[in-house]
Amino acid sequence: MTAVPARGGLSFSRVSVAYDTSRGPVPALSEVSLTVAPGEFVAVVGPSGCGKSTLLKLAAGLLAPSSGTVTAGGVPVAGPGADRGVIFQDYAVFPWLTVEQNIGFGLTLSANRAEAREREARVAHYLDRMGLAEFRHALPKTLSGGMKQRVALARAYVVRPGTLLMDEPFGALDSQTRLAMHDLLLGVLRQEGTAGLLITHSVEEALYLAARVVVLSARPGRIRAVMEVPFGRARDHALLASPDLARLKGEITALVMDEYRRQTALDRRPAA
Ligand SMILES: Nc1ncnc2c1ncn2[C@@H]1O[C@H](COP(=O)(O)OP(=O)(O)O)[C@@H](O)[C@H]1O
Ligand SMILES: [Mg+2]
Repeated sequence: MTAVPARGGLSFSRVSVAYDTSRGPVPALSEVSLTVAPGEFVAVVGPSGCGKSTLLKLAAGLLAPSSGTVTAGGVPVAGPGADRGVIFQDYAVFPWLTVEQNIGFGLTLSANRAEAREREARVAHYLDRMGLAEFRHALPKTLSGGMKQRVALARAYVVRPGTLLMDEPFGALDSQTRLAMHDLLLGVLRQEGTAGLLITHSVEEALYLAARVVVLSARPGRIRAVMEVPFGRARDHALLASPDLARLKGEITALVMDEYRRQTALDRRPAA
């Protein structure tokens, strides 16, 4: 098999974000520097409210940093773009389109337009891989949350973005579907050479999918640690039972819990 060229990638250089609120600025990220190489998949963990979604929104071009720079594929991020596929946790699908139309939607937009036959083939591939073929003509309101989330995943994968930006995309899935979706994602990354940033609450999921795991500190999020995941590209379920994974999971969980305690103390502090 010939190697697939590595695509996409991100860089955050000394990025800070403070949200303007009626009570003054709320610092959400502080001096974050992080590079995701082309074809590299990086996971981010950290306590709730530490700035993870903020980091993803910067890369998606939905938010501009207060200071610092963000690039995607080597180009400064100035807004959303077809080079980045974004998947949120709340299964963002178009309620008025069928499953099939939702999945094919991106392929009808000018930036990613595909010939009808190519479009049909790619949509059929993901309908099948996501276990949604029977529901191709269904509207989202008739689907479970987990099914809607699979539609959202397929819709992002089908356009083959250089970079995937994923904010807790597997949280709503039952545990078997989640494992199946992990393996499907690993296949997509390998076949397409895609880079990505995954926000997750699950340290185990981060270790199973990513080449590196970034631990963010309590708010404002700073980089607390970056752990290399020493399992290479070949991941399978046997890994989930390995002592190496258990050890890393323990180390990362201890860091996250440390930051969780700091975050909880911050949240309890009365507003100034
Ligand atoms: N639009 C906003 N306006 C004001 N504060 C916000 C806004 N979005 C997020 N925040 C605050 O910024 C901090 C980080 O939020 P977020 O990035 O969503 O955290 P996480 O995804 O890690 O839970 C939180 O304290 C949150 O309340
Ligand atoms: Mg979040």
